[in-house]
Amino acid sequence: MAQLWGGRFTGGTSELFKKLGDSIYFDRRLWREDIEGSIVHAKMLGRQGIISEEDAGKIIEGLSSIREDIESGRLEVAPDGFDRDGERVHYEDVHSFMEAVLTERIGEAGKRLHTGRSRNDQVALDMRLFVRRSCSEVGGSLLELLGVILDIMEKNTNTYMPGFTHLQKAQPVTLAHHFGAYFEMFRRDAERLRDCRRRLNYSPLGSGALAGTTYPLDRAYTASELGFEGPTRNSMDSVSDRDYCIEFLSDLAMVMMHLSRLSEELIIWNSNEYRFVEMDDAYSTGSSIMPQKKNPDVAELIRGKTGRVYGALISLLTTMKGIPLAYDKDMQEDKEPVFDAIDTADGCIRLMSGMLATIRFRKDVMEASATRGFTNATDAADYLVVKGVPFRDAHGIIGRIVLYCIEKGIGIEEMSLEEFKDFSPFFEEDVYEAISLKTCVEKRNTTGAPGMAAMQEEIKACRAFLAADSKA
Ligand code: ARG
Repeated sequence: MAQLWGGRFTGGTSELFKKLGDSIYFDRRLWREDIEGSIVHAKMLGRQGIISEEDAGKIIEGLSSIREDIESGRLEVAPDGFDRDGERVHYEDVHSFMEAVLTERIGEAGKRLHTGRSRNDQVALDMRLFVRRSCSEVGGSLLELLGVILDIMEKNTNTYMPGFTHLQKAQPVTLAHHFGAYFEMFRRDAERLRDCRRRLNYSPLGSGALAGTTYPLDRAYTASELGFEGPTRNSMDSVSDRDYCIEFLSDLAMVMMHLSRLSEELIIWNSNEYRFVEMDDAYSTGSSIMPQKKNPDVAELIRGKTGRVYGALISLLTTMKGIPLAYDKDMQEDKEPVFDAIDTADGCIRLMSGMLATIRFRKDVMEASATRGFTNATDAADYLVVKGVPFRDAHGIIGRIVLYCIEKGIGIEEMSLEEFKDFSPFFEEDVYEAISLKTCVEKRNTTGAPGMAAMQEEIKACRAFLAADSKA
């Protein structure tokens, strides 16, 4: 029998319940963490004299051999199998599987592994280890993306393009500046994951079912062996806390929101109307009927998958909201959303890196677009202010000029000096220089602005962030 709790039962489990209730179909993904935690638990049991050193040794050896066999593909963590006597066996979760296979391999000693431990603190530990590793993995993918973005920034400090508000051309910026905004978003995301990792890094092992145990467990030892800051403080909290999963999911949801915004922009920029970018063939698809099409499917897919990760977050928040202390079976529902969200988010980050590394920016089209649409109107008003006109009056004058230019189908800079003077005597020859695209961008050098000097500072800080991280 592969159930860990059969003693008190005379009847079997409903087939339907088994199908829906068994978690091995997905929690087998925790096999590595489960073995790691069990090895350390066994080591501690031996050191504390709770089981013999000899049994502890056998358990550790057995678990190590299971690990090797799973790694090499000789053993599969599967719901069904056969025991030594050829009897069919079924395992409800990864924990039952491990204990059964271990006992098959080493005999009696295997049955002593679970001394002073419950599946409640066991699964709490496995999930913490898994989410901790995932924080680092997703963090690594984000750093790669930041590297690709920084590369685009460094190459495009004088690639002029329109900056938008309300998706209407507003003021000219540079491509470096635009991507600098995304650098900041993804940098904060990476930092959030680091925070999440720091906060979750305490060991629940030794909390037992909910109330600790009467055995003299050394929780500080197991915590330190597993790379935790220390043991968690309250055993009831430890077996029922899934805050860190929710925090992790919310960090991933934020990453997806940022990826989705960037995707949306790339989709717009890739449209026939904008033509700011061209995506590499590797990241586009064609149409089965319209031969002319080259669709930005990857960006659309990332935008679409965002809903899935939001779903995972809401799903777990909802699962947890009505659960009384301590462990309840509901908590088994933490795994699938976390697994799905990490696969989705990590995959999307890496896809975005690949797409951005190969995208072609059409600098000429961007620059031409920046010169149309009156992106220099603010600078024209500022020009009059410098000449002594109050800003509110200057705003009105330029507004009338824009109206005039729209009717004539020209840009402000295309007006003759006489035309300028008809609107205000303060205009002089130097107006052309003052409202040129280059001046509009390059004069903006307040911290965080697109001007070359400000941008160089920003790039320096971005580079320092990535360098500090590669050392950490
Ligand atoms: N498969 C269970 C889970 O993932 C393991 C914990 C079982 N504990 C229990 N008291 N039934 O939550």
